[in-house]
Amino acid sequence: MKRIRVALKERSYDVCIGKNILPLLGKEIRRIGLSGKALIVTSPKIAGWYLGRVSKALRSEGFEVFSFSKLPSDEFAKSQKNLFGIYRHLLKNGFDRSSFLIALGGGVVGDVAGFAASTFMRGIPWIGVPTTLLAQVDSSIGGKTAIDLPDGKNLIGTFHQPRLVFSDVETLKTLPDREIKHALAEIIKYGMIWDENFFRLLEKNILRMKRKDLKILLSAVSRCAEIKARVVGGDERETKGLRAVLNYGHTFGHAFEAASRGWSMPHGEAVALGMMAAGRLACELGVFPWRDYERQRTLIQKAALPVRLPRSVKLSRVLESIRYDKKKIKGVLRFVLPVKIGKVKVVSAISAEKVRKTIEQLQEINAGSCACHG
Ligand SMILES: NC(=O)c1ccc[n+]([C@@H]2O[C@H](COP(=O)([O-])OP(=O)(O)OC[C@H]3O[C@@H](n4cnc5c(N)ncnc54)[C@H](O)[C@@H]3O)[C@@H](O)[C@H]2O)c1
Ligand SMILES: [Zn+2]
Repeated sequence: MKRIRVALKERSYDVCIGKNILPLLGKEIRRIGLSGKALIVTSPKIAGWYLGRVSKALRSEGFEVFSFSKLPSDEFAKSQKNLFGIYRHLLKNGFDRSSFLIALGGGVVGDVAGFAASTFMRGIPWIGVPTTLLAQVDSSIGGKTAIDLPDGKNLIGTFHQPRLVFSDVETLKTLPDREIKHALAEIIKYGMIWDENFFRLLEKNILRMKRKDLKILLSAVSRCAEIKARVVGGDERETKGLRAVLNYGHTFGHAFEAASRGWSMPHGEAVALGMMAAGRLACELGVFPWRDYERQRTLIQKAALPVRLPRSVKLSRVLESIRYDKKKIKGVLRFVLPVKIGKVKVVSAISAEKVRKTIEQLQEINAGSCACHG
């Protein structure tokens, strides 16, 4: 079992990663000093596969285990209704501040269960047991919790670090292929922002990852967790600028999502297109070599993620959405742009005209040919 430390002084914790490690979860929770009642929060489908194993691991260590398996399997789970359902379940079963909560599932379960833990009786400990590739490489680490409002996603949230993250790559076996593919966008992002060697490993092995080869997934989850742990350790609450690098591909990406019909574009596809846009903009500004842009494009295509923005996504709506982006500070648009594979920087004062041209070009790219002379 691999152990990665998220170093945040008294809020530090380990991310444990391995294959078939769920039976060890109870022992690990004992080791970090938690005792008493545990509520496992999950959804019916995930419960069917993994609740038994997780409960058994805890019971064998003497924990009193309860479960709340009613969260819907979609984004609507992050609602006030479900949040209050969790609170009521905690109360009904006599939970207090000596108890803790376990989020068993993807980023949706993690966000809402983490939010419940951060607010129930002014905060109780929680543990992440992420079961999607996205949650294992991204959302389970860093302590961001959230629920949605009808007005928009993640509008209510807290920073509440988990006490432990326990990632068993074995759980990825049941994950649909499209979820693997969408998480690959975030994984490529880590290579782009931090680590050229890791990017090279992806160039060599991305097809094995798509086939859910657990050996290669294990090494990718570990490297991504290390990078996220380092970034979060240096900028826990996104106040020092470092955590902003994780937004690579996301300023454009969010705008593409918002401009797609009924928010129909999956987040992973939007991030892939967002990285394409950021890469192209950086090339046009002369800060990123075209040959690196090509390497990024080739890898995104190998992952079967899109490199061309569909015409159904209207340019005017994308621009409107970018204008409202939360990273727009005092009227200046800021983008995380690559300078080479493995390194990015935050650039502001980019003209709206350059942004518009970038998006237009992203709709024109012919996926089969070299985009650098287009
Ligand atoms: N807190 C953060 O820092 C952070 C970061 C990124 C994203 N997020 C949030 O994460 C959410 C997306 O997370 P996600 O991509 O994990 O999606 P998700 O949680 O919706 O999971 C995707 C689907 O896979 C199913 N599933 C989960 N584990 C499975 C398994 N092992 N086998 C089979 N099916 C399984 C789920 O039921 C769901 O239907 C969004 O709400 C986003 O806002 C949070
Ligand atoms: Zn993302």
